[in-house]
Amino acid sequence: MTAPADGGADADVRLRRMPKVELHCHLEGCVRPGTFLELARAHGVPLPTTDPERVYAYTDMASFLAVFERLAAAVVTRDDVRRISYEALVDAARGSAVVYREMFVNPTLHPTLPYDELLAGITEGVHEARRDTGIVTRLIPSVYRAHSPAAAADMVRAVARGDRDLVVGIGMDGDETAGPPASFTEAYALARDAGLQVTAHAGERFGAEEVRTCLDLLGCTRIDHGYGLLQDAELLARVRDTGTHVTCAWLSTTYNYRGPADTHPIRLLHDAGVRISLGSDDPALGGTDLAGDYRAVSARLGLTADDLARQNHAALDAAWLPAEEKAAVRARLEDAGG
Ligand code: HPA
Ligand code: ZN
Repeated sequence: MTAPADGGADADVRLRRMPKVELHCHLEGCVRPGTFLELARAHGVPLPTTDPERVYAYTDMASFLAVFERLAAAVVTRDDVRRISYEALVDAARGSAVVYREMFVNPTLHPTLPYDELLAGITEGVHEARRDTGIVTRLIPSVYRAHSPAAAADMVRAVARGDRDLVVGIGMDGDETAGPPASFTEAYALARDAGLQVTAHAGERFGAEEVRTCLDLLGCTRIDHGYGLLQDAELLARVRDTGTHVTCAWLSTTYNYRGPADTHPIRLLHDAGVRISLGSDDPALGGTDLAGDYRAVSARLGLTADDLARQNHAALDAAWLPAEEKAAVRARLEDAGG
């Protein structure tokens, strides 16, 4: 399939303008290349190239995460964090009509910035972006899997003690081969005991077992990526029947999946009746944005604009937002006919 499912430029415009609810996006993956180059120069982070077109080059999951870590290392001060948060959110609101976003951030990738300072910088950027575009944001500090379980538990303690106006839960991301999810049981128990919601990246590289661990042992009520569910019919049926929301991302499938469109994991999860939605994940690293991802799944996988509009409602159902604010976001979806 090469043409958009609904055909042509009008369909592209509809996809771009459709108000979007995005539950899977990493703050550090939204840094504009020009901003990264400025911050890296300011903080002495060594660069493989100063060409903004090539500075985020990667070929697979491992090189992708190396770029991500270098990017995070350039974000050092509270004002750096304010700036990247603001830019991330206005880019999403203006470029892709995102009206609500839950955004991951990896505190342990900014080791010299105390958590409260990191959160204060993000909060400033979030408020400025809301003032300028209306975008509503919540935050999900995320465990980085290559770091130790003790570091994860310390991070969760800081999150639990810190300001909770914007922070709604914790997540887990990074290298799925670095350590099993079960090693983060303590961090997740601390988070749940503190009243935080919990999700995790799992099954991004198609393992089902770790999705099961995240549900059963870590208590996750959402799963990020989750493609490994397709390897286990019983688990897939359970996730479908419990309405557990799975946040998919086109970007990561572009380097982790090489098969045909009709067995693409996002298409199969959709066809299986799982409640899914699309997130841009790391739009700056993908050289695209959420609207571009909508176009890709429409053109390549045959999901229609109506499918995607329904996914936005499913994402809002699964969002960690109080009922009143949820209703206001819902009204923005409905006002636009989405
Ligand atoms: N997978 C795992 N970790 C990540 C990703 C991802 O797609 N993006 C940022 N951190
Ligand atoms: Zn992700």
